[in-house]
Amino acid sequence: MGSSVAIEVSHLSKVYEGKVTAVEDITFQVSQGEVFGLLGPNGAGKTTTMRVLITVLRPTGGSARVLGLDVVAQATKVRQLIGYVPQERAIDRFLTGREHLQLLASLYHLPKDRAAKRIEEVLKLVNLEDKADEVARNYSGGMKRKLDIACGLIPDPKVLFMDEPTLGLDVQSRLKIWEHIRELKARGITIMLTTNYLDEADQLCDRLAIIDGGRVKAIGAPNELKSGLGGDVVTLTLAPGDLDRVEGLAQALKAQEGVRAVSVKQNVLDIRVTSPEKTLPAILNQVVARRCQLEFVEYHRPRLDDVFLAHAGRRIDNPDDSAVP
Ligand SMILES: Nc1ncnc2c1ncn2[C@@H]1O[C@H](COP(=O)(O)OP(=O)(O)O)[C@@H](O)[C@H]1O
Ligand SMILES: [Mg+2]
Repeated sequence: MGSSVAIEVSHLSKVYEGKVTAVEDITFQVSQGEVFGLLGPNGAGKTTTMRVLITVLRPTGGSARVLGLDVVAQATKVRQLIGYVPQERAIDRFLTGREHLQLLASLYHLPKDRAAKRIEEVLKLVNLEDKADEVARNYSGGMKRKLDIACGLIPDPKVLFMDEPTLGLDVQSRLKIWEHIRELKARGITIMLTTNYLDEADQLCDRLAIIDGGRVKAIGAPNELKSGLGGDVVTLTLAPGDLDRVEGLAQALKAQEGVRAVSVKQNVLDIRVTSPEKTLPAILNQVVARRCQLEFVEYHRPRLDDVFLAHAGRRIDNPDDSAVP
């Protein structure tokens, strides 16, 4: 009925047992047909947000709607329209892939003939037809994940929630899972996933929210977020012996015209500049004036890791990074 909003999260908060604030005042919307990602490090609050949306956790503040239905007041209806692929595998080693799917179909009260048809469909969707009658014990990590996804698809959901769909998988299996997710999108399914992989967020998601410490730091399409940073990133690697001079150089560069931000990790400086052509000579002059020894210079267009650093104040993979805003 006109509305193209699939998921609407408004000032959502979740405090566990009155003391652990996992999610704080989160607001975002997902349009129908989108692949939307929550990108953040471990402990950012991704799973908590997702579990509120799939109605298994009650928010302690704010509200959320899925396909127009309130996840608290209309939880039963929400459940009938969604699928969920959890972060941790719930696969029984002794059952075959098909038996898992049959079990789920009966949990969803699918009539026998419809269940059989649906099971064939989802097996085909994730390319598991050939392995359907093998016990899950013999499945590789990638195959188990495909079976997880097939399970999430049994109810024929309009919206599919996937928590870390490719966590721990090898590159080939990850690419396969991405293909399946794109295929689901092509079928009109709205997909919300969580990830702490920058490339996954970048290449798979139409839009994403960067989340850290339970808060949304930035929202947008990957390209919007990157171009929103403005300018390029110059990376200087100094000789390891220059460690004591790095901080002084960073401070001097921060004061330099055309430099928007500087962040330091050991002997490496990431310098965000409006125009590298104009600013690079001034940067190099500072390096020389401070008698720093340059080992390596590189500059690149902003990447998603630069976006994360700019908004969260640290790198996603190295929680101990320090940054000079
Ligand atoms: N059941 C729980 N009880 C108490 N604290 C929890 C519980 N589940 C998660 N947390 C805490 O909430 C924060 C967010 O966790 P989570 O949503 O799992 O993050 P993510 O999925 O991004 O790794 C973390 O600090 C975590 O330790
Ligand atoms: Mg999680």
